[in-house]
Amino acid sequence: MKIRSFDDYQQAYQQSVTDPEGFWAGVADTFLWRKRWDNVLEWNFTEPSIKWFLGGKLNITENCLDRHLATKADQPALIFEPNDPTEPSQTLTYKVLHERVCQFSNVLKRNGVQKGDRVCIYMPMVPELAIAILACARIGAVHSVVFGGFSAHSIADRINDAQCKLVVTSDGAFRGNKEIALKATVDDALLTCPSVEKVIVLTRTRTPTSMIKGRDAWWEDELKLVTTDCPAEEMDAEDMLFVLYTSGSTGKPKGVVHTCGGYMVYTSYTFETVFQYQPGEEGRVPIFFCTADIGWITGHSYIVYGPLASGATTVLFEGIPTYPDAGRFWDVIDKHQVNILYTAPTAIRSLMSFGLDFVKNKDLSSLQILGSVGEPINEEAWHWYHENIGKGRCPIVDTWWQTETAGILISPIAGLTPLKPTYATLPLPGVQPILVDEAGKEIEGNGVSGNLCLKFPWPGILRTTYGDHERCRQTYFATYPGLYFTGDGCLRDEDGYYRITGRVDDVLNVSGHRIGTAEVENAINMHLGVIESAVVGYPHDIKGQGIYAYIITDHPHQNPELMKKDILATVARMIGPIAKPDKIQFVSGLPKTRSGKIMRRILRKIAEGETSNLGDITTLLDPAVVEEIKAGVV
Ligand code: WTA
Repeated sequence: MKIRSFDDYQQAYQQSVTDPEGFWAGVADTFLWRKRWDNVLEWNFTEPSIKWFLGGKLNITENCLDRHLATKADQPALIFEPNDPTEPSQTLTYKVLHERVCQFSNVLKRNGVQKGDRVCIYMPMVPELAIAILACARIGAVHSVVFGGFSAHSIADRINDAQCKLVVTSDGAFRGNKEIALKATVDDALLTCPSVEKVIVLTRTRTPTSMIKGRDAWWEDELKLVTTDCPAEEMDAEDMLFVLYTSGSTGKPKGVVHTCGGYMVYTSYTFETVFQYQPGEEGRVPIFFCTADIGWITGHSYIVYGPLASGATTVLFEGIPTYPDAGRFWDVIDKHQVNILYTAPTAIRSLMSFGLDFVKNKDLSSLQILGSVGEPINEEAWHWYHENIGKGRCPIVDTWWQTETAGILISPIAGLTPLKPTYATLPLPGVQPILVDEAGKEIEGNGVSGNLCLKFPWPGILRTTYGDHERCRQTYFATYPGLYFTGDGCLRDEDGYYRITGRVDDVLNVSGHRIGTAEVENAINMHLGVIESAVVGYPHDIKGQGIYAYIITDHPHQNPELMKKDILATVARMIGPIAKPDKIQFVSGLPKTRSGKIMRRILRKIAEGETSNLGDITTLLDPAVVEEIKAGVV
């Protein structure tokens, strides 16, 4: 049943709770299965073991591509808008996209990739990125996309963890007025990646590129060697579709695993429901523009899989919001007559800071629905977005979800759910949130806050963390037995509306990028002369959170500013430029309890500039250190 009114939503929600299996079977029936499932769901949150559509056989690319060919062959599937506005945009119809995916599937096969093999993809935001992803899915290979902002060291970690056999990359990437040599970074990574046998390199920037005989091949040359005919591999609903690495409270990112059937059903269902995606007059299909990078889950689910499984037209934008100027998003919307815009609060805040000149004279009349994702949206950004971009007539869907959830869990349904700025509002059908206190006791009623958990699985929930199931159990299912713990704090107001207040663990959200404090500390601690460090987040006007690092060194450096720059270079090398601290303070000690635990609460308060009310510090080993830190705040 499609939801077309708030009443429909309430009914669907009721059904999804009283009869989850019946509800999801109804949704799953709208997809193309080679063989229908035997059982809708088997689960327990103890091991955990979660299986959806057991025994079902399918290929997600037959759902994203083949099944649309009969009716939508000439409809645009993907509109590519390049970094440089003077370079022509490209439109790939479903027919063309299907053909290119099949062709690249054959390239992968020709280079030895088989069902179940892992393929690392490190590419700019170009159509070939989506093509490479879908080609993996078509032949049953597991893709692991690594965001282009990660360093060689981070790529190597991810490749080695998943034992990838092949890497797909490009010579370089265009980003604003910069040209970034991606293949060179991959080459550095591969010095320590023995599992990789082949590298396929797309030509994008024609940056000088080292090509190693026997290992490296140009994408364009490979295409000439294969046909455009490639039958899809039959996959089990619970076969792995992809792994995507994400940060948690420990130093090492973990590979979140999603499987074919549940991921497909969940991303497509939430896409159509939340954005009320449906053909308009004369079958005209709305244009959907998600500004995320495909290197993150938002791009996986709402640029590639969700929209394509739903037969939508999706915009893929290579550039950045501020190039050639801060009006670029609005130019893209104007040029491609975008109907639905899905972006992040950090982008909104950044564009807001450039003033309204860049919005003036842009035709935004095609817009019908606005979306927000990635972090809490503050009141000011919400209103600016609503008034200046949506002109007061477009609902904003503030969508809360995570890499681990595959798709949106708590969100308004566009145009139907009464809105409240800064609130993600209500759970989607099939989603059963509960709030718990520190001891894991359910907090009932309204007008309360606590830690946000889910008590029942939905088809998109993660199945495991790659190669380490125990870690998955520990991280998500052990804190509160019987529940999936999100790591987020949350408020449920008098109306039962949910408002996500931010992470309660040691994960930072910097410009919508998830970064673990332990990861940054590990990188800083690798720097010569650093003895110890502690990293916390602090409120940042544009990024949402900034990174504040307290660092102890073995002796005072004669040029502290230079030392800071050196440390930043180490962090960029170990993780990537996205993890560079915004502020560094050298300290002679850190506030620790007698048992040696760093009191982050105190460091967080100081970084936030709240030095007057630090709470009880008498349990500290050396309370004097707090005074010193307060005096040296940067
Ligand atoms: C945060 C991104 C408030 C949250 C899809 C979550 C949000 C983390 C929202 C996941 C939102 C995401 N309001 N906070 N609408 N959306 N978050 O895995 O802290 O990159 O746990 O997934 O982002 O980040 P991830």
